Amino acid sequence: MNPILENINTRVSVREYTDEKVPEETVMELLKAGFRGPNAMNRQALAFAVVENKERAKEYSDRAKDLRIEGEKLKCNPDERIIDMLSREDFNIFFNSPVQIFIFASPEAVEPVEDASIAAENIMLAAHSMGLGTCFIGFAQGLGRDTGFRRDLGVPDDYMYLAAITLGWPSVRTPIKPRKEVKVLGWIR
Ligand SMILES: Cc1cc2nc3c(=O)[nH]c(=O)nc-3n(C[C@H](O)[C@H](O)[C@H](O)COP(=O)(O)O)c2cc1C
Repeated sequence: MNPILENINTRVSVREYTDEKVPEETVMELLKAGFRGPNAMNRQALAFAVVENKERAKEYSDRAKDLRIEGEKLKCNPDERIIDMLSREDFNIFFNSPVQIFIFASPEAVEPVEDASIAAENIMLAAHSMGLGTCFIGFAQGLGRDTGFRRDLGVPDDYMYLAAITLGWPSVRTPIKPRKEVKVLGWIR
């Protein structure tokens, strides 16, 4: 199979990692792969932050969980499964991964969500091609409004938080989750 398609088709979200360090040059290479993606009007407005410290990551996980639980409880129909899962003391939203990558956008960005989503997928696919595992962490979203987290990482006030990705060497083989049939709604010929 074409190696790019093979990489896309074998990537999985990894939730169990070894403690082995990911070399900083490798992390940097992945950030560059993220930044290399297509981006609206070529503003190149994305910026990254990296956390390699496990104690800090645990603190950020705890804060993100609290923020998400608070937000969930304010909804008309709170999702009790999410509340139960995030309430577990031993649940770390970053799965004790050795590295977490956060993606932000400066006010220059024209389509920040799209730019960051593309960057995140570039990072995840590039990491997979190197034998590294990743997982996109939507539960980290609350950190975007956590002033302590932003200050610790030197994120300017006007930068928008967009994404979090765990990174590390997988400690187990994660089965590939099959996809449903592709739905094609229309195809005008
Ligand atoms: C926007 C978004 C948010 C996600 N948030 C989480 C998350 O907080 N925790 C988690 O374990 N996985 C998260 N995932 C990963 C999905 O659960 C995963 O991609 C999906 O189950 C398909 O599995 P696969 O990536 O192994 O193919 C997220 C994925 C996306 C795209």
